[in-house]
Amino acid sequence: MGLGYGNLVAIPHVLRTMPPVYFAHDYKTTTLHESGVAMDMWERGELTNRRTKGPTWTHSTDAGWSPEQYQRFADHRGRPMRDLLARVEAALTADPRVVVDLGCGPGDQTLALTDRWPGARVVGIDSSAEMLTKARSLDAAGRVEWVQASAEEWDPRSTGGPVDILVTNATLQWVPTHLRLVPEWVAGLAPGGVFAMQVPSNFAAPSHRLMREVASRHPRAEQLRPGLARAEAVAQPETYAALLLGLAPDVDVWETTYQQVLPAGDGEPHPVLEWVKGTGLRPVLGILPEGPERDTFIETYAAELERAYPRRPFGVIFPFSRIFALARTQGA
Ligand SMILES: C[S@@+](CC[C@H](N)C(=O)[O-])C[C@H]1O[C@@H](n2cnc3c(N)ncnc32)[C@H](O)[C@@H]1O
Repeated sequence: MGLGYGNLVAIPHVLRTMPPVYFAHDYKTTTLHESGVAMDMWERGELTNRRTKGPTWTHSTDAGWSPEQYQRFADHRGRPMRDLLARVEAALTADPRVVVDLGCGPGDQTLALTDRWPGARVVGIDSSAEMLTKARSLDAAGRVEWVQASAEEWDPRSTGGPVDILVTNATLQWVPTHLRLVPEWVAGLAPGGVFAMQVPSNFAAPSHRLMREVASRHPRAEQLRPGLARAEAVAQPETYAALLLGLAPDVDVWETTYQQVLPAGDGEPHPVLEWVKGTGLRPVLGILPEGPERDTFIETYAAELERAYPRRPFGVIFPFSRIFALARTQGA
């Protein structure tokens, strides 16, 4: 079954026929999210054939990942992966033999891949030891090969054979150089293989904007700023479309906003605060140690969230936008 071109009618033919392009973007000074679409970058001469990998974040000051905090909203967090996999399934022409989940996190969704494709070898890769410990604890039967590696360092050839499906869900926003890595990952796919990614695109939403604003008024604003800007490594949907169309014949890119309803009992912490504590607030939590300084930041931020996302009888509506992108390589 062929993939549609979705909303890509605006991409001119010349972009579809260009050789693979690589982004030589200085992520330190400008975020890709703010930098405009690929066509603008092309016109400004900012797309090049450089294959240089970016640096890894070995000196990250982020707080570690807490599988428990992250999984507090497992239903909402799992939905985009399920939607992405439904699209992957529709794109496949044969049962996959090797499936890789890059940034597998606590592993529940990786294990679901073994249910979906029981004949496949499934590899879960993540840079976080905490997440992998949780993942292994869920996998007593050893159905998944768990590997600790960063996306920046991972080499698709290390799996010992071509990859039929490379899925990466809610991870590449933490990998600011991912636009440079995607071509290598797509090149490592088997004929007819599928690359599928999902990234949040809600960095302008009140949840993240207010976090940045509170951080900008903080006495340690300069220390807090890089971590929060780094989480904005997400590009425009058109950028993913243009990049993937240079790499594979069948591409589908779309953006969705989920109207998430989070439970919000009286006297309980605001649920959006609890949500971001598991993800986007980690750069702040890593810099402000537990104690009065962190408490003041959280109180100020939580008060802003109460106004932006009011509690209602049914809970709090937390709209959440996400970008999905798929590319299928030429079949055998
Ligand atoms: C938001 S969680 C998503 C986990 C899982 N894919 C899911 O959908 O529930 C992001 C995951 O990306 C991992 N991660 C962040 N940066 C990474 C990197 N540079 N290389 C590999 N994994 C990374 C984190 O450790 C974390 O487990």
